[in-house]
Amino acid sequence: MLVVEGRAVRHGRIEPAAIGIEEGKIVAIRKQLRGDPVYRYADALILPGGVDVHVHLREPGLTHKDDFLSGTESAAIGGVTTVVDMPNTKPPVTDGAALREKIRLLSGSANIDFGLYGGPATAAGVPEMKRATAFKVYLAESGNAVPVGTDADLAGILRAVGESGSFLAAHCEDPERFAAGVAKSLSDHHRSRPPEAEVAAIERVARLRGNARVHIAHVTTAEGARSRPAGATCETTPHHLLLSTTSNLGTRGKVNPPLRPDATRDALWREVLEGGIDMFASDHAPHTLEEKSARFEDAPAGVPGVATTFPVLFRYVRRQILPLERFVSMFSENPAKLLRANKGEIAVGRDADLLVVDPRRIEKVTARRCRYKCEWTPFEGAEATFPTATFVRGELVAQEGELVTERIGRMITPTEA
Ligand code: DOR
Repeated sequence: MLVVEGRAVRHGRIEPAAIGIEEGKIVAIRKQLRGDPVYRYADALILPGGVDVHVHLREPGLTHKDDFLSGTESAAIGGVTTVVDMPNTKPPVTDGAALREKIRLLSGSANIDFGLYGGPATAAGVPEMKRATAFKVYLAESGNAVPVGTDADLAGILRAVGESGSFLAAHCEDPERFAAGVAKSLSDHHRSRPPEAEVAAIERVARLRGNARVHIAHVTTAEGARSRPAGATCETTPHHLLLSTTSNLGTRGKVNPPLRPDATRDALWREVLEGGIDMFASDHAPHTLEEKSARFEDAPAGVPGVATTFPVLFRYVRRQILPLERFVSMFSENPAKLLRANKGEIAVGRDADLLVVDPRRIEKVTARRCRYKCEWTPFEGAEATFPTATFVRGELVAQEGELVTERIGRMITPTEA
């Protein structure tokens, strides 16, 4: 039996514990356990690894921005042990053949566990993509994603997803609420794709939902979170919580949905603290510096973030702004529940996906520290606490900012869930 010792975070409490692991699963949690090997982390904290349900690792077809090997290395270094990858690759994952090809291509190149979204254009795409972890629709153009068509198309997809037992993640912006004109700054970009567009699109999903499980991607406003239909989940991102239209980032802060003014961002934080948002997700969407050096209106939208969710948000836990229990539920537990994956909690029977952190350590974020292929981060220079070790199903994958075991990631399947 492999044993990991430290101060484990369970049910919002911190307790010295020895976590016994066999065949990738937690089999015992005691004060002391004998084992071989034993990883001793003394008074460092042990948390469940992060589950990030929203990443764009750009493979296939866009691997100059990122790829599975590199993106999952960044994830491991940031304490994320499962990611779910979006379908707007090249080609996009819109049918069974594209999904099968993507699974074939990625098998053996993930450093952590992963799921894949299918992006059906119509209801017929859903049963074709049985092996998809979940499904994704865009209600507006963004990146190279094609928006869903009519209400009938969306209702059909929702019905098919409901029958599949999986869930539909929705990028909610309503293009009918977009302002005309050219956006030349972060403030312009916010006004051109305003908060009303978010709320209107969420209301459209709510109206057509039927019995489907629905997840609202990257809400940027408290109103957005509150307008989701009963029983639906939602995520928000570290960049929408920590950056704003006043951040001096230019095109590097261009993202869809946009960064918001400080007051909107502060209200979003309050919503997190009051329990109105289910989970954090990075919406890791890297572009190269060259691509980002275009004029504002021509630059692609998206920021990298898979490595920084834990490091930048854990600072708020340390400063006692964000309660530890809420952080763990939003970073690990709730996204694992959404995926119906056997993850997200330090408990007997769960996958031994763990991160170890010394809360006293403070460093500055750099792109190098995050191992980003795109070589930049919007959080450059921010104070952060990176994990010191990351385990995936009991395997030590990353330690002290270095990948130590490669390519052990497996695809999580709906049947496992
Ligand atoms: O800013 C964004 N970038 N929003 C999206 O919806 C897509 C993403 C991308 O793929 O670059």
